Amino acid sequence: MELIDGKKVAGEIKREIAAEVENIVAAGDRRPHLAAILVGHDGGSETYVANKVKACAECGFKSSLIRFEDDVTEERLLEEIKRLNEDDDVDGFIVQLPVPKHISEQKLIEAIDYKKDVDGFHPINVGRMSIGLPCFKSATPAGIMMLLERYGVQTSGANCVVLGRSNIVGKPVATLMMQKGNPGNATVTVCHRDTRNLKEVCRNADILIAAMGRPESVTADMVKDGATVIDVGTTRVPDATRKSGFRLCGDVKFDEVAPRCSFITPVPGGVGPMTIVSLMRNTLLAAKGEIYPR
Ligand code: GUN
Repeated sequence: MELIDGKKVAGEIKREIAAEVENIVAAGDRRPHLAAILVGHDGGSETYVANKVKACAECGFKSSLIRFEDDVTEERLLEEIKRLNEDDDVDGFIVQLPVPKHISEQKLIEAIDYKKDVDGFHPINVGRMSIGLPCFKSATPAGIMMLLERYGVQTSGANCVVLGRSNIVGKPVATLMMQKGNPGNATVTVCHRDTRNLKEVCRNADILIAAMGRPESVTADMVKDGATVIDVGTTRVPDATRKSGFRLCGDVKFDEVAPRCSFITPVPGGVGPMTIVSLMRNTLLAAKGEIYPR
């Protein structure tokens, strides 16, 4: 069994990005600039955004964090999105999700200029990805593909089972895995709460991607010997032994599943750091105008 060390790979890629940014600056161009909108004080979102800001510094990017309280109106957020769309100094920006219930997530996403949508959530980027056109690919799926590539996991012809059908992870990772190319060319099955014979379907997976957000629900009896298991779960579960009062829990029962695997990602330190690196890479591509001319 080999552990897929997302933290290490993410560190390597951040150093590669930082070197490229210094070349860009030395050539007289501006530093890439990522902005993030954060609404409210959700603990998970605060941590994710803080990590994104920190990653920007590591990559040599400029970053801006724009905060709003929970009671902000949708109209005010749409106004801020419009401002960022029009700000030539901002290469890309994100709205950290989730947002409070009185605000339409979809409305916000669709208000973002797709050329600055470095999260890859806008329907234009989603649609372009699904037909294999250049686009901003959503960060977690792109991060998973980078890990599979760097660890030499064979995807071509592999049976890939995706657990979960969210717009952020399940659907786009299924799209990338089935797409022509390397990594890609897999035979993909997407499972969800109504899937029958889930255990049997999972046991057929050469690559199992768990992204349903249900802690430790993938058990050893669901995993084929020699499989590659990618754990996208990051549920906070109470843990009195931690200073923070919680620990991050994956969707996979790691201790019993790991011995069966060829490769497995840990939580934390697997997919999570790669998600942030994908966002950095998209921001660099935005700054260089490589996907869409600026
Ligand atoms: N919330 C959970 N994951 C993400 C992400 O990748 N981007 C944004 N904007 N919000 C999230």
